[in-house]
Amino acid sequence: MAKIEFDKVGKRFGDVEVINDQSLTIESGELLVLLGPSGCGKSTLLRMIAGLETPTSGEIRIDGVVVNNVRPKDRDIAMVFQNYALYPDKTVYDNLAFSLRRRRTGRSEIDQRVREVAKSLEIDAFLKRKPAELSGGQRQRVAIGRAVIRRPKAFLFDEPLSNLDAKLRVQTRTEIARLHRQFEGTTIYVTHDQAEAMTLADRIVVLNAGKIMQVGRPTEIYSAPQNLFVAGFVGSPEMNYFEVSLEGRDGQPHIVHPEFSVPIDTALENRLSAAPGGRITLGARPESMRLNGAATSYADSVSLSAAFDVVEELGPVTYLQGRAGQTPVTAAVDSGAQPALATAMPLSVRFADLHFFAAESGLRL
Ligand SMILES: Nc1ncnc2c1ncn2[C@@H]1O[C@H](COP(=O)(O)OP(=O)(O)OP(=O)(O)O)[C@@H](O)[C@H]1O
Ligand SMILES: [Mg+2]
Repeated sequence: MAKIEFDKVGKRFGDVEVINDQSLTIESGELLVLLGPSGCGKSTLLRMIAGLETPTSGEIRIDGVVVNNVRPKDRDIAMVFQNYALYPDKTVYDNLAFSLRRRRTGRSEIDQRVREVAKSLEIDAFLKRKPAELSGGQRQRVAIGRAVIRRPKAFLFDEPLSNLDAKLRVQTRTEIARLHRQFEGTTIYVTHDQAEAMTLADRIVVLNAGKIMQVGRPTEIYSAPQNLFVAGFVGSPEMNYFEVSLEGRDGQPHIVHPEFSVPIDTALENRLSAAPGGRITLGARPESMRLNGAATSYADSVSLSAAFDVVEELGPVTYLQGRAGQTPVTAAVDSGAQPALATAMPLSVRFADLHFFAAESGLRL
């Protein structure tokens, strides 16, 4: 197990800055997920840990030792890619055994470890087959098995499941979580699949354009996004946004939007008054928008009305898409709900479920 540290690490390719002087500590035994849009630098970060790219500035340390110039094969780190490469002429058994044989591990230990790993990945029935005789998901599990069998100091996974169908992804995701618990190696896992990030991670790092936007436990990232980027990137469908201002009305502070105006207490006023120009972006996740029964409204909540024109029934949940005045609104409601379309309906969101950001900087208030 290894502790991996990034100390003001920068990476440029020619004139292009891909990683911008970032610092991060990955604790020994932790499963850290790197989440971010395409091109934000996730693979580059992984490749620098593996030694396949050299940082342009800063230091990468593994267990306190600077590894900037240590060759990949001397780092004792295993990497699984999206496009896994297996030896096509070798059986599954020999693919799994390969790295152990190269290290001159004893025959009986090899046999024991191959069978143990194959069993935990449920590929033990295919040990005599060649890769071409396996499905994509089975091949990917062999590739994962090859990484874990060496018991390296750390595992790097670069979108290892993106070639699999939905059902296999979920299944293999569970297997990776189980393997991590079993082998306890420090693991860095790249994905842009949120469900994968939320379910696997001890901590998530949200990356955008080469910069770390937030580091936190999955529930922290979801319930307290530190800026508008994280708020928008994590959660599906995306959070609803309302541009509001902080105004005094009838001697009381209000948050004011063309579709609603709500009095707030002094504590919230103090929090929101940090926003430059009193300009605030209010965020409400679709799953916290509640359809009110006839004329019900709840205490401590924002009430507004919206007209929906699209209904997406997913089974366990139904998404409604429409508008509150000019503002697009998505609400996630119980699958039983059958709202009348195109007529304005009352909605509410509890204050506790609202997110407030300074409109100018995008930072959480
Ligand atoms: N060898 C290279 N030379 C020049 N630019 C590169 C090189 N490798 C990566 N880049 C650029 O660096 C940026 C980050 O690439 P990287 O592969 O790390 O992104 P990513 O987050 O893994 O994206 P994806 O989710 O699409 O895999 C991209 O803009 C990419 O074009
Ligand atoms: Mg990538």
